Amino acid sequence: MWFGGGIIISGLFSEEAVAILNFLPDPLFIIDQGQQVLWSNRQAGDIFGSDTGGNETLAGVTGIEKIERLAGQVLQSGSPLEFSFEDTTVKIKRQEKHYFFRIAIIPANYNRLQGAIVLFTDVTRFQEMEKIKSDFVSIVSHEFRTPLTTIIVGVEMLLEGMLGNLTPRGKEILEAIEGDCQRLSRLIDNLLQLSRVEAGAILIEAEPVDVTNLVQEAVRPLKIQARDKEVELLVELPPDPPPVETDFNKSVWVLTNLIGNALRYTDPGGTITVRLQEKGDYLFLSVRDTGCGIPKSYQEKIFTKYVQVRGQGSSKRGGAGLGLSIARDIVTSLGGEIWVESEEGKGSTFTFTLPVLQPGLRESKGGNTDGS
Ligand SMILES: Nc1ncnc2c1ncn2[C@@H]1O[C@H](COP(=O)(O)OP(=O)(O)OP(=O)(O)O)[C@@H](O)[C@H]1O
Ligand SMILES: [Mg+2]
Repeated sequence: MWFGGGIIISGLFSEEAVAILNFLPDPLFIIDQGQQVLWSNRQAGDIFGSDTGGNETLAGVTGIEKIERLAGQVLQSGSPLEFSFEDTTVKIKRQEKHYFFRIAIIPANYNRLQGAIVLFTDVTRFQEMEKIKSDFVSIVSHEFRTPLTTIIVGVEMLLEGMLGNLTPRGKEILEAIEGDCQRLSRLIDNLLQLSRVEAGAILIEAEPVDVTNLVQEAVRPLKIQARDKEVELLVELPPDPPPVETDFNKSVWVLTNLIGNALRYTDPGGTITVRLQEKGDYLFLSVRDTGCGIPKSYQEKIFTKYVQVRGQGSSKRGGAGLGLSIARDIVTSLGGEIWVESEEGKGSTFTFTLPVLQPGLRESKGGNTDGS
């Protein structure tokens, strides 16, 4: 009798339990502590051809290399770990069709069963929808860009009086239009950046970069905004920071976004401090503000796209909830990490790291550290 292809450990399951597991629409494996497949259901057999006959590892049967590391970590810790979506999503080709599966590994220690249950959920449809949505966003944003540029140029000409004098009321309205156009333009840039990141097309052009330049480039355009809002913008740089290996423009983008957020969520009279510190093999770039702060329950979630803290009036302040999620994607691709520490009512500190360029590489890369 073929019950999904693996070995049925006699007495481990009742026949009813086996039948139920075989009715599951998703592939399921049961592995022991050494990651040998003890049993798999019918669906696993259909997808992975796992008529194993025993003595095969999960990675061997499924052909998914990274599953060994994931299962190893779960078996060692004895608890169902939370891995990232990217880590647990796999693409499998069967009969000319691509499937996407999300893997869940649940430790199972019960009587004679000592190991883990590995469940593959079919997320192909979900993945296809994501792609359609990303393509759609990307096309729409592109289409918006050209007419918006024309509108902005027209408004600027009107405001500069090139087309005749304006009444004070007319000027006021045009200024409001100009502000909204800038918001729209920022939103479109963010959406385009996001669709590139999602398409995996985030092109990193890493080079040795002088971080002092990087910080100045990010701070410069925001100085006027800070002054207008009566928020003090301070920069603390060590005297001689080592060069980092990074993508200059994308790192500037991340830092600008963090300072932009700090400005948005800090009231007049507050202070924003941009600080650079060297710690081991990394440079730590942080933006501290004395603004409204972020509740604990949101401190991880805000790095997910479209998530904004309720009650802060984020959307009224002109945001769409995209900046931090793009920032995290960029920083991760640059080999660093990004996080926030914050206390409600007191302020927030966002920090990201960039790997320091190893001394051996500094000379061989020609020492071009001006980052331009
Ligand atoms: N410095 C900060 N102080 C308080 N809250 C913040 C701060 N930075 C971010 N947040 C919260 O995190 C949310 C997500 O930030 P994110 O930068 O992703 O989006 P946004 O600024 O709202 O919009 P966008 O960046 O797309 O213009 C914000 O809406 C806000 O609620
Ligand atoms: Mg933002």
